[in-house]
Amino acid sequence: MQTVAPAVPPLLIGVPRETAPGEKRVATVPEVVAKLVKLGFAVAVESGAGDAANFADDTYRAAGAEVVPDAMQLWSRADVVLKVRPPTPQEAQMLREGATLIGFIWPAQNPELMQQLATRRATVLAIDSLPRQLSRAQKMDALTSMAGISGYRAVIEAANAFGRFFNGQVTAAGKIPPARVFIAGAGVAGLSAIGTAANLGAIVRANDTRAEVADQVVSLGGEFVKVDYEEEGSGGGGYAKVMSEGFQQAQRDMYAREAKDADIIITTALIPGKPAPKLITAEMVRSMKPGSVIVDMAAEQGGNCELTEPGQAVVKHGVTIVGYTDLVSRLAKQASTLYSNNLLRVTEELCKAKDGRLDVNMDDDAIRGLTVVKEGSITWPPPPPKIPAAKPKAAAAPVVASKGGHGHGASEPMSARSLAIVFGVGALLFLLVGLYAPASFLSHFTVFVLACFVGYMVVWNVTPSLHTPLMSVTNAISSIIAIGALVQVAPPLTGSGGADRPNQVILGLAVFALALTAVNMFGGFAVTRRMLAMFRK
Ligand code: NAI
Repeated sequence: MQTVAPAVPPLLIGVPRETAPGEKRVATVPEVVAKLVKLGFAVAVESGAGDAANFADDTYRAAGAEVVPDAMQLWSRADVVLKVRPPTPQEAQMLREGATLIGFIWPAQNPELMQQLATRRATVLAIDSLPRQLSRAQKMDALTSMAGISGYRAVIEAANAFGRFFNGQVTAAGKIPPARVFIAGAGVAGLSAIGTAANLGAIVRANDTRAEVADQVVSLGGEFVKVDYEEEGSGGGGYAKVMSEGFQQAQRDMYAREAKDADIIITTALIPGKPAPKLITAEMVRSMKPGSVIVDMAAEQGGNCELTEPGQAVVKHGVTIVGYTDLVSRLAKQASTLYSNNLLRVTEELCKAKDGRLDVNMDDDAIRGLTVVKEGSITWPPPPPKIPAAKPKAAAAPVVASKGGHGHGASEPMSARSLAIVFGVGALLFLLVGLYAPASFLSHFTVFVLACFVGYMVVWNVTPSLHTPLMSVTNAISSIIAIGALVQVAPPLTGSGGADRPNQVILGLAVFALALTAVNMFGGFAVTRRMLAMFRK
């Protein structure tokens, strides 16, 4: 008699409706449901979970999800719960014992929730605890994708409250100057706001305590305004620190000057674990022109402006101060789509075998950072991740060094002595080839070596972020082989009487090859142009 191994049912991923007031996002959109099903999971969505983000129950059903009528059913059945906001105590109580929860948790701010989840013997991955400095974590970085959206929305809210165009115009009805926008804090949200405001045609100026962001501000079309005080503003991990009193005074003086000139101020300044720095005083608001707008993106953390009222848009001294704390939810469809893609990437990392099961590998730096509770034990805060050296210049050294036999981990440039040894050995090899190889080989070999050297020098000096356009342009240049086909289709030299004309098959093949390489050549250059355009403003 044949015995059949009992099939292990796939884990059930549950997506509840968000219950926080004003929260319109949903943790998984229908497009991602289909991808989770492909990974081997079953998916259940609470009825109405996607309504506020314009994803109807039927679209979830069509993507392969089961739609369950209420929260209790969903929470009590799901093996894995995908969420946006931290669960309420009631929700955490409904979580099945031993289940996995993935979403925003903010463990430092929610110690009771952490305890409660631990008593449920849950495994919890906090998307806000992702080690963002790891380059492979970028695809999971929901903080960045959400900050990008809120920066964009902040400009849209400012434009809505502002009574003028952003761009300057000369019309028959009069000349309109461009709006002047000042952005305080040029992190992810600030940079997104700079790009959006500059694209609308405003004059954008920005300031940050971390001087390293100045180039990014300029590349997005803004002007970086320095504080006239020398102090390093980086607090490690790409975040800011609390500045000295001397710096803060100099910064206040500068902000007072900017506030007088600005039509719109967007503030995004935050310091992890600290209340938002107060950068815009009541006095500065009073000095602004009537009809000006302030959007305070730090409202939830206490606000960067003294007069902000969190969650409200108020008019004080003729200035509209927008303190909305739901900027991301105001673009719920976009935000849900990006957020659910971030969670999909996390799930992929946890299910590399694509078998509908999760493997929380605590030896993986990214997963270790994310995991704040593992099977009932609190594992937050994690030890600092072992970050690979990511400086582009330093990365060049190991490759050069490996030629000289010092491959491992040498991040400092090759010493003059090792360089001399590499060149010495190379010259000796060349001499040997010259002595014994035929003359024709030597000339080809010389061209080959020079081509390798020039190619290496060119490629190595290109910034890593430009490697993809570089590949497409080399692809286009490689179409130089078209010359071979051209030689075949070219008319014979006068005097040869057509004797060396290739036969019809070769001619046909040559024309075909020419057509193919033409696609490669023109297509390659066109793609390169488009890619480079993405790096320009
Ligand atoms: P954030 O939301 O904590 O802070 C926003 C901005 O406010 C920061 O740029 C900060 O320098 C600035 N700020 C703080 N105090 C200020 C003050 N008194 N005056 C003016 N500006 C002030 O930071 P966010 O946007 O989440 O990330 C900040 C940075 O982290 C990014 O710009 C990036 O450099 C880095 N990061 C790095 C990643 C990576 O290595 N892959 C990934 C994500 C972020």
